[in-house]
Order: sequence, then C-alpha cells, then structure tokens
Amino acid sequence: MYKNPKTITFSYYYYYLFHNHPTNYPFISFFNNRHRLLSWYTDLLSQSPSQTVVIRRLTAPKTIITANPKNVEYMLKTNFINFPKGKPFTDVLQDFLGTGIFNVDGDLWHAQRKLASHQFTSRSLKQHVKTTVVEAVKTKLLPLLDSIADDTATAEVVVVDFQEVLRRLGFDIVCKLSLGFDPCCLRDKQSFSHVVPILAAFDTAAEISAKRAATPISAVWKLKKFLRIGSEKLLKDSVNEIHEYITEIIHERKKNIIKFSEKTGLDLLSRMIKTGGVNEEQIRDMVISFIMAGRDTTSSAMTWLFYSLSRNTHVEEKLVNELGFGFKENDEFETLKEMKYLQACICETMRLYPPVSWDSKHAAGDDVLPDGTPVNSGDRVTYFPYGMGRMERLWGVDRLEFRPDRWFDGEPGEFAGRLKLKEVSPYKYPVFHAGPRVCLGKGLANVQMSYVVASIVNRFEIRPVRFEEAVYLPLLTAHMEGGFKVSIRRRRPIVGAMCQDMKGHELI
Ligand code: HEM
Repeated sequence: MYKNPKTITFSYYYYYLFHNHPTNYPFISFFNNRHRLLSWYTDLLSQSPSQTVVIRRLTAPKTIITANPKNVEYMLKTNFINFPKGKPFTDVLQDFLGTGIFNVDGDLWHAQRKLASHQFTSRSLKQHVKTTVVEAVKTKLLPLLDSIADDTATAEVVVVDFQEVLRRLGFDIVCKLSLGFDPCCLRDKQSFSHVVPILAAFDTAAEISAKRAATPISAVWKLKKFLRIGSEKLLKDSVNEIHEYITEIIHERKKNIIKFSEKTGLDLLSRMIKTGGVNEEQIRDMVISFIMAGRDTTSSAMTWLFYSLSRNTHVEEKLVNELGFGFKENDEFETLKEMKYLQACICETMRLYPPVSWDSKHAAGDDVLPDGTPVNSGDRVTYFPYGMGRMERLWGVDRLEFRPDRWFDGEPGEFAGRLKLKEVSPYKYPVFHAGPRVCLGKGLANVQMSYVVASIVNRFEIRPVRFEEAVYLPLLTAHMEGGFKVSIRRRRPIVGAMCQDMKGHELI
C-alpha cells in the first residue's frame, strides 16, 4: 500500500533521530572506485550492519544502495508506488527504449504490462517453446555444435566464442516471440566471422546507454548529445538503424494482416496490431524493450553456467547423470520439470552472476526504509542482486562457492528428481525483480534455459581455452568480458553415470 509522504513524516523524523544511519560515502570515494563499482559496493555492503550504504554524488540527489531483503521487499512491493523508475532513469534510456515497458511508469507501464502478459499465459508459453525454442535448438544450435565438434575431432582444436553463439540464439528466439520473424543470426560456423548489422546496432545502443548511467556527471553525455559528437553520435546512428529495421517489419506485417486477413500470430507484434489503439512508435518501442529483455539475459546466465560447470567438474558429472537418467528430448515439458539438479545449477549461477547486476528506482516522496534509512524525494534507491548473492549473512560462509546443492531442502542424497527445490524469497534473491514489476519472462526464461542447457550438456563438453578467472561486466545486461572462448567436443559416456543416485550410490 502506498504511503502518502505526509503520513510518513512522523516516522521519518522518529527514525532520523533514533536510528543508526547507514555509512555515507562522499563523491570522491565513488569517483576513485568508479572502475570497480561492483566489488566496492559489495565490500561496503558486507561491512554495513544494515546492509545499506549511501553514496553522495555531485549535483545529484544521493544514491542509497541496499542488499537488505526487507528494504528490497519494501521498495519493490510494499510501497511500490513510491519507488518508480523515475525521470533520471528514463532520461538515460529514452533515446534507445523510448516509451517501451522497460522505460515507463504509471499508466503507460500498466497498459503495456496488461497487453504483454497475454504473451506469457501457460498456453502461449508452451506453444512458443515447442515452435520456436525446440526448433531453434534442433535445426540451428545442435547442427552448428556438431560441425564444430567434427572439426575438433579431425583437425586442430577449433576455438569458438560460446557467449556469441548463445547471444545469437537468444536474439533469434526473442525476435520470433516479439516480431514473429527469425533474423537467422545463428547459422553455420562461417557466419561468426561476419558482423550482423542489427545485432551490432543493439550492442552499441545498449553499451552507450549503460555507460551514460555510469557517468559520474550526467552533463557530460548531455553536452555530447547536444553537439552530436563521439559516443552520442554513434548512439543516434544505431538507434536510427534499429528503428528502421523494426518499422519495416511492422509495415510488412500490417500489409499482410490487411491483405491476407492473416490470423493473429503468436507474436507480440501481431497481437498489438490486431488489438489496435496503439500507435506505430509505441509498438516499435514495446518491441525494442522486449528484445532487450529477452536477448542477452538468458545468454548471459547460460554463458556463466557453462563457465561454472567447467570449473566444477564434479557438479557437471552430477548434471550429466541426472540428464542421462531422465531428460527425454521428445517429451521435453514433462521431463524438464523433473530435472531438479539442472534447475539448481541455473539458480546457483544467477546467484553469483545475475544477468541484471543492479536496478534503481527514484523515490517519489520522502520515506523510510525498514532498516531505518531515511529516503528523500528524488533519491536514487538501488537494490543490488550481484552483491546480495555474495553476502555472508544471506548465503553463509561458503557464499563464493558454486554449490547447487544449497538449493535443496535437506541433504541432496536422493536421486534429484525426488528432491524438492528450496523456496527462496524473491527479495533475498531478486534476480528476476519482484512484486508488481516482476520479470514477465521468468517462466519462459527458465524453460528455455533448461532446454538449451540440457540439450548441450547431454551431447557436448564445453571447455574454456583460457584458465584465468573470467571478468563479469555489468552493462545493461551482464557480459563476460572478451567473450567465452571454448573448445567443443562430443561428450564421452560416463561409465556408470546412468546407474548412480546423487550420492553416487548404485541404483541398478
Ligand atoms: C535469465 C533471464 C532473465 C532475467 C534474469 C530477467 C530479469 C529481469 C529483471 C531484473 C527485470 C526488471 C528490470 C527493470 O525493471 O529494470 C525484468 C523485467 C522484464 N523482463 Fe525479464 N529477465 C529474464 C528473461 C526475460 C525474457 C526471456 C523475457 C521475455 C522475452 C523477459 C521479459 C521481461 C519484461 C517484459 C520485463 C518488464 C516487466 C515490467 O516492467 O513490468 N525477461 N526481467
């Protein structure tokens, strides 16, 4: 329930006088640490008794960063209305995302959320997975990996950027869902030596927009935009290219719907055209938000999952064992549900490497967070999934270990299919956001990632060619810096793998 700022005045001053406030850090500390914000914030939050800190910024309201689940619940659900994205956020992304669902609040957001939610009913979802995800995996991904594995078996080791493979797959799938059109970015291995212009335009626009948000003084990017120079000119060019690309598809679809009375497709674009009442620019912006939401998030999670498996081969063995036992490719929906260890691996990966590292709101009115932190109207309040996944108070002393077993209730001794996954509060683990604005694609993302990972792990061994620790880059969606360079081999059957339970006991 939204609390009117006036009604909180008393509690605000009460807290202000009698509570310990989180430590404040001046602008100079922020400036000195601007190249290592992730680890700086994580360290500060683990030292803070309330798991909240305040950063002062030049010429801008303060930023409150929290890893406290009670605060996260308060801002994302209990007093949701007082924590919109706000103008400072939407200004930064306006040129790229316009008025798409990601970048609006209030009525505009509500209307889009309602419209888009039809895309995610369990019937639509099942249909989408069957027609798009399964098809993309069977007709594009697996043949590509097969041909790379063939080369590796017969010639020198072939090195592939697996992050790029997964990103192209993610882009194709989300375009089919939103535009009803497959851009076929994932093709044969030769295609990786060519840049795909539309992918590059999305990359550039996303990167420059993310860097705007991280600039210590926003006047710098605003001046560059005004003068149309440097990165701002590049942003403008990329956004123009994206607009042209999508507008052409919208025109084509409209023509087909009128000319051939094309039945409403399963995609978001057809649905919006048929529903009517939404102008062309709004449709375009909505589609861009969707593509951004679904494209790099799943590929980021899967890249870090394969990276984590390659560094924890005992986990990989357990997973191969589970899949060998129960995953049936022609009955993917039913059998995927039983793949509990696979789900635990996905959750554990996103705990350590969340696809969205942090997310900010801007307070509409004065407020007080449950831990006593006073909030002034206009303050930026950031919840921080990356830091939360690494808090000892939330995940215990072994928080930095990749240990999927932590997601099971009780001892993971039984065969995983019979185990129950722990129910973890979305405010302790907010990788999909939470509350009224929870990620609309959460269910789809989980099924899609499970199917893709299961199909790959069943057949191939993915091994990094570099042994150093990979660097997590927190852009709009997190990336692995420099890509994930791997070799791909066919998996040799593990002797006895089909016959052991999760403790290694013989079953037959
Ligand atoms: C591992 C995969 C994913 C993760 C971790 C993830 C995470 C998130 C997060 C953190 C938000 C809130 C962002 C914000 O408000 O600034 C969000 C929103 C959203 N996500 Fe996802 N997402 C994933 C996959 C997907 C997919 C595959 C789709 C659909 C194609 C999708 C559609 C959306 C939409 C439409 C929103 C906006 C919801 C709203 O504002 O009401 N997501 N997601």
